[in-house]
Amino acid sequence: MSAAPEIVVGARPGSVHERAARRFASAAAAAIAARGRFAVALAGGSTPRPLYERLAAPPHRDAIDWARVDVFWGDERCVPPDHPDSNHRLAREALLDRVPVPAGRIHRIEGEDPDPDRAARRYEAELRRVLDAPPPGVPRLDLALLGLGEDGHTASLFPGSPALAVDDRLVVAVRASEAGVGPPVVDRITLTPPALAAARAALFLVVGEAKAEAVRATLERSGESGRWPARTVDPAAATWLLDAAAAGRLEGLASAAGEAP
Ligand code: 6PG
Repeated sequence: MSAAPEIVVGARPGSVHERAARRFASAAAAAIAARGRFAVALAGGSTPRPLYERLAAPPHRDAIDWARVDVFWGDERCVPPDHPDSNHRLAREALLDRVPVPAGRIHRIEGEDPDPDRAARRYEAELRRVLDAPPPGVPRLDLALLGLGEDGHTASLFPGSPALAVDDRLVVAVRASEAGVGPPVVDRITLTPPALAAARAALFLVVGEAKAEAVRATLERSGESGRWPARTVDPAAATWLLDAAAAGRLEGLASAAGEAP
């Protein structure tokens, strides 16, 4: 966990989402060439919507071999799949309903299950089955798309959460009653640090001034680690795509002020 992450700053509105779409497409092409499939975990929240919409439109839609894409989620809110807060609903509306990904390759977290622990265990089993990693192996996603909350959370790993210390599960339930969960304050189901750490690559997509302090604190790696959950992702595997506002407090850490055409 020593190498520095790649940090890319998009200088123009929209350029960060275009860069993310290109990274997604090139990661898909590389994984399919190497292993015959692309296993990706999608992020929730509002930030990735423009990315998903770009992926669903030319040129990216036509460049990606959707028949070989396995879609997972990094986390889900415990709501029905058609609920406005559902991460699955967001991805379906913005992307999955618009591209030819086979239904059998969409691996949804069942947020509607009244027993989130049971749903988490089922999702862990699904990850192991699809990615052919029975215990004690750890399934390797090709790409984990991730966001960052103003409080520093990523997926549904919130600051100080017991989920951050889990080392023997790939997926766990996080209760709404835990301090610091949300918004929305609902039970959640999340990949754990070991599941995220096994990903071949992680792509953080973060925009807006409100996230600038969380970006700085996470990337500077000073202070208590449990306060900044995104630090659980291996920096050497991580790329951070930031807009200028989110990168505003980095002071020299950003490697490029990139312009997308
Ligand atoms: C979730 C997410 C979460 C999200 C951040 C950023 O389900 O809540 O997966 O980790 O990525 O909260 O959310 P915004 O993009 O809405 O700011």
